[in-house]
Formats: sequence, structure tokens, C-alpha cells
Amino acid sequence: MAVLSILTAPDARLKEPARPVERIDERVLALVDAMLETMYDAPGIGLAAPQVGVGLRVFVADVSAKEEPPSPLVLINPAIVWRSEELVVAEEGCLSLPEHYGEVTRPAEVVMRHRDREGSLREIRAAGLLARCLQHEQDHLDGILFIDHLSMLRRNMILRKLAKARRQSRA
Ligand code: NI
Repeated sequence: MAVLSILTAPDARLKEPARPVERIDERVLALVDAMLETMYDAPGIGLAAPQVGVGLRVFVADVSAKEEPPSPLVLINPAIVWRSEELVVAEEGCLSLPEHYGEVTRPAEVVMRHRDREGSLREIRAAGLLARCLQHEQDHLDGILFIDHLSMLRRNMILRKLAKARRQSRA
């Protein structure tokens, strides 16, 4: 199993909506395993398939604290089926926007329906950090980054800095 390379913005592949998984076969399971390994290696609390250049509606997450045992989640073809009216603001980061953070307003709680790696239909009711993580990763499947929730001024500033950092790393 290999750690995959994570795309960073600006990259057109991060802006493309992903397509549903039609069959949970060995290829999809191998992708999920590699995504988990890549997420833990980064380290991060969530990773969506488009971030590793795969346009499928799959993401992995683990919001357990460092001192807790790992609690990996695999979500295939996820959909948010309920959102709380209550909104909360919190700072977010993203493995595809390294070293940049921003305050994003999102529903405080959500219910997400998805298939797990065995193909069983499941629902997660989430609040707090997990609710935020699930919504952030779901956005990735629709080509949306957390900076798309910020003002255009702030978004463009972050994208310019990332483009500059990339030019310098190539030089
Ligand atoms: Ni992200």
C-alpha cells in the first residue's frame, strides 16, 4: 500500500464534481485503503478522492483525538439528508490548501447517508468537529473548497499565495 500524493489548489481536478461509485469492487477498496493511509500520514482528519486525483464520490475521515484509538470512517456515495437550522462558525484547514485557514459558517449538525466499505447503507448523525469534517469532505465531492465559502478577496489572496509557493518550489 502506498501513500498517495495530495493535489493542492489551484488545480482544476479539485474543482470538478465527482461521479458516484457504481460498484464497490476491489479497485474501490484499494483506493479507500490508500486514502486512509494517506490521511493518517499527512496527517489530516479527512480526505476526499478528488484530492488524490480520483473523481469518485468517496471520502475517509477520522476525528478521534490523538490519545484515543483510531476511528476511521469510509463514506461512499454520501449525501447530507438533514441539516440543522443552527449555524456555527469555526476555523477550517485543508490538505489541498496547506498552511491556510479560514472561518467557515456551516450547519451545526447534519445527518449523512452513505454506503460503508461493505456496501451497507448507513446514516451518521453528527455534531461538532465530525459534522464540520463531513460537510467539508462532502464539498470536495462537488468541487467546492473551504475557500469558496470565504470572501472573494480572501479566497484570491490564498490562491495567489499558493500559486506563488508552487512557482518557488519548482524554481
Ligand atoms: Ni479539504
